[in-house]
Amino acid sequence: MNILVVGGAGFIGSHMVKRLLVDHHNVIVIDNLSKGFRDAVLCDSFFEVDIIDKVATGKVFANHSIDVVFHFASFIEVGESVKFPEKYFKNNFEATRSLLDIMVQFQVKQFVFSSTAAVFGNPEYSPIDEAHPKHPINPYGESKLMVEKMLEEFDKEYGLKSVSLRYFNAAGADPQGELGERHNPETHLIPLVLQAASGRRDAISIFGDDYDTPDGTCIRDYIHITDLADAHIRAIEYLRKGNQSAAFNLGNGKGFSVREIIDAAENVTNKKIPIRLHGRRAGDPATLVADAKLANKVLGWKPEFTNIRDIIQHAWNWENKFPW
Ligand code: UFG
Repeated sequence: MNILVVGGAGFIGSHMVKRLLVDHHNVIVIDNLSKGFRDAVLCDSFFEVDIIDKVATGKVFANHSIDVVFHFASFIEVGESVKFPEKYFKNNFEATRSLLDIMVQFQVKQFVFSSTAAVFGNPEYSPIDEAHPKHPINPYGESKLMVEKMLEEFDKEYGLKSVSLRYFNAAGADPQGELGERHNPETHLIPLVLQAASGRRDAISIFGDDYDTPDGTCIRDYIHITDLADAHIRAIEYLRKGNQSAAFNLGNGKGFSVREIIDAAENVTNKKIPIRLHGRRAGDPATLVADAKLANKVLGWKPEFTNIRDIIQHAWNWENKFPW
């Protein structure tokens, strides 16, 4: 199949490209390189294009017979989205609309969308299943939910079929050590903890230890990047069989607190990790854990790296390769 990966130079997109190449697909990548890295793209067909530019995006579609589009390109920082909402609505919503318009123009009807647990807002119950109310509490989550809603309309109007995959906390790195997380600036817990372990950072700040959780720190559901890539493969198989558009939550169904992550990282790295207690970070729910039974039932998806030690070990191997 000819698969277009939008945002294929980023963290999740680059791992996806690797998996698609292993599966012998023909992969074409579009990325504007605002966050991604050209050298993380393992396929030959690469176009430095911003999907908001319909002319440039249209040229890529005109020159390749695209069967399926994966869309990873978005801004992902919750705090930044509160400060600069327009940036999020433009990049995450308007640019996606532009991409969908091109898909309709070229009659490409299968789309896999990177959505997020942030569409749910503050959990009303846990673990969070697909039926959970969706009340995002920041522009990031709102921009993703708006795309999910737009996809419903594009299905009704143009027969564009989609799967929205709502990631909980994407983590880990390519088990072969070829790729990993390279956000700049880095804001995610596991890479920051590992930077404190390697000495690239003097300490890890714990953002709040007075939450209503057993040790007072926030609980998240960390899901390995390779398992996320596998869910996308299953999502295309699902769409290729002619199934209806759908959305799935992706996580391990098990939460770890910030302190548990630091303890596990000390274990994996065999290093003492200095801690600094900090106030709460705005917009952080106490607990976010996925109920991923639907993905298991419908897609047959079963995460392989459910042990947090493996997730941290792969991220640690990557950290040890710095500078990338
Ligand atoms: N944390 C710290 N110290 C840090 C960094 C993070 O204590 O230096 C804490 C956070 O407060 C949070 C937890 O670690 O409680 C995880 O934080 P991350 O920033 O790693 O991840 P988030 O849960 O905030 O965000 C992730 C994705 C978002 C997505 C969200 C969906 O990065 O894109 O999950 O729930 F929206």
